[in-house]
Amino acid sequence: MMTNEQLSALIDELTIDEKIAMVHGATLFYTTPVERLGIPQFCFSDGPMGVRPEYQSSDWYLKGFTDDYVSYCMSNSALASTFNRSLAEEAGEIIGEETRGRKKDMILGPGINIQRTPICGRNFEYMSEDPYVSGEMAEYYIKGVQKHDVSACVKHYALNNQEEERNIVDTYVSRRALMEIYLPGFRKAVKQGKALGIMGSYNKFEGTYCSHHPYLIDEILRKSWGFDKLMVSDWGSIHDTTEAGNAGIDVDMRVTNDFDDYPFADPLKEAVASGAVSMEALNEKIAHILTTMDALHMFDYKKLAKVNPIFAPLGEDENGKKIKRKHGRYNATSSGKKLLKAAEESIVLLKNEAGLLPLKQKKIKKFVIIGDNANRQHALGGGSAEIKALYEITPLLGIKMLLGGNTEVVYEPGYYNYVIGNAWGHDANGQGGGLNPFHQPTQNEIDILNQRYLASAKKACKDADAVLFIGGLNHDHDVEGADRKSMTLPEDQDEIIEELLNVRPDMMVAMMAGSPVDMHKWADRVKTLLYFSYNGMQGGMALARVLFGKVNPSGKMPYTLPKVLGDAPAHKLGEYPGTDKTVHYNEDIFVGYRYYDAFQVDPLFAFGHGESYTDFTFGDLTLTKTACEKNDIDGDISVTVTV
Ligand code: BGC
Repeated sequence: MMTNEQLSALIDELTIDEKIAMVHGATLFYTTPVERLGIPQFCFSDGPMGVRPEYQSSDWYLKGFTDDYVSYCMSNSALASTFNRSLAEEAGEIIGEETRGRKKDMILGPGINIQRTPICGRNFEYMSEDPYVSGEMAEYYIKGVQKHDVSACVKHYALNNQEEERNIVDTYVSRRALMEIYLPGFRKAVKQGKALGIMGSYNKFEGTYCSHHPYLIDEILRKSWGFDKLMVSDWGSIHDTTEAGNAGIDVDMRVTNDFDDYPFADPLKEAVASGAVSMEALNEKIAHILTTMDALHMFDYKKLAKVNPIFAPLGEDENGKKIKRKHGRYNATSSGKKLLKAAEESIVLLKNEAGLLPLKQKKIKKFVIIGDNANRQHALGGGSAEIKALYEITPLLGIKMLLGGNTEVVYEPGYYNYVIGNAWGHDANGQGGGLNPFHQPTQNEIDILNQRYLASAKKACKDADAVLFIGGLNHDHDVEGADRKSMTLPEDQDEIIEELLNVRPDMMVAMMAGSPVDMHKWADRVKTLLYFSYNGMQGGMALARVLFGKVNPSGKMPYTLPKVLGDAPAHKLGEYPGTDKTVHYNEDIFVGYRYYDAFQVDPLFAFGHGESYTDFTFGDLTLTKTACEKNDIDGDISVTVTV
């Protein structure tokens, strides 16, 4: 580890131009190296579901190579529903190893903003409505990632809880809610997870952009939590050179290709020259970057040692052995197995009232599967979380793979889901957009196709031994840059489910979504109900294995499923999306289950709900408080229960 003396000596070696080059993007994902000193460029990559495909260096066009297919890991909302720290660590390890394998330095994840409203477009990228679950999962995920000489980047700090007006919305929240709900996950990620990276958010807090916020960054993150590593902007979240230059944010990345005009490029050089930003402030940014690079073993040690012998020890570890940065790898066969286990544990059995599950393979001669999500691949969607998946097993494929040819598996779309395309594009203001290259059918054409598909599904399921509807959302809805307009299922799925239930009251339903959907119209009529998020390349196989009892479901909802959107606290007590680009979180600390509990509002399914195929009884609950150190706000309570 660099000593203070070595760090100051290295900073002293750098010219102002070299320093400026280190604090802003020279391409969309890279900074500039200082080759003469052996300081490499720093490479960022999205995140958080795997390593994002390669883009052109100055345009948002994919390179289109074939060597950037990677393991498609699960979304954070899926990971959180495992409630399993070891799986979080294992998922982190896979991503970390692949990040390094793809020669990146920092993976832009995990996303851990609190899921405040059910309709936030990026809920799928976040862990939970609960700060404890978010923090625990993030801590272990980060530890996993960082085993591979790459950095995690916990994002988006802070209060980026809606995509609507995300670039500008000004958020007002009490200090108590900030400390108890919105920041603890970040605190844990930094203090316990030892994250080497954090990303600022686009939005404002109390009138100031979060990415330049003196209270959030300097007071809380840097001073109170002691974070001394790299803070990067969100892509385009810095708006004022002086304000951000004097704040503790280090690297300015953006979505445009006017690299020299970035606030931390020529404008920062001028601000330092005029004294508007001090050289000390700039040096502090450089110190954060250099210590992060040091932790990742990024330097060219030979070159550094030649510059000044004081740097020679940097190339060796405590035992005098030469430091070699790990190489990483990607698409290891073993990753597929690990991701299968994680995907299995992420599936939530909401109810199994008639005991239809697990299905008995021998008894099912004809299995009818209906719905778009049975047959849809999701990896290449959602915005910056997109992944070129090495493979993605859909539920339909997984079920067929598991059953072999002994069961007739009939697929019926049930409704016509026209491809909107990836409705998101990285435009200059980051609000999303994108062009649809496909012909959009008219409403009349869609109606005709829908009738045709529904009639066919009804007919097919009449004599089936088992019927399963797999619907929910996809990345046209769970997407960066836009929130959903409501919690209602798209493509008239409510009506279709009800019509199908008229024919087959025993139809099982599986909802795949990265956030809550409104199921209140038919949930009581359905006896078998499953819920899961985008759970990676093995997701379809995991579902098949749960359905056929190869594995006992153990997932738990990491967020509440309200009956209707109006029941959600942000909508009932708070404001969403706010007015005049300002939002007040009037629900205060009553976020998620805290609200449903305290205000006695029945959700459709509660936070933490999730059944299995085993019947349990439990009792003798005792709580014991273990002594905690003075001023330790994380004191423990032990819970003992007989199962
Ligand atoms: C997103 C970040 C992402 C960055 C780089 C932004 O639009 O908000 O989460 O990491 O782009 O792609």
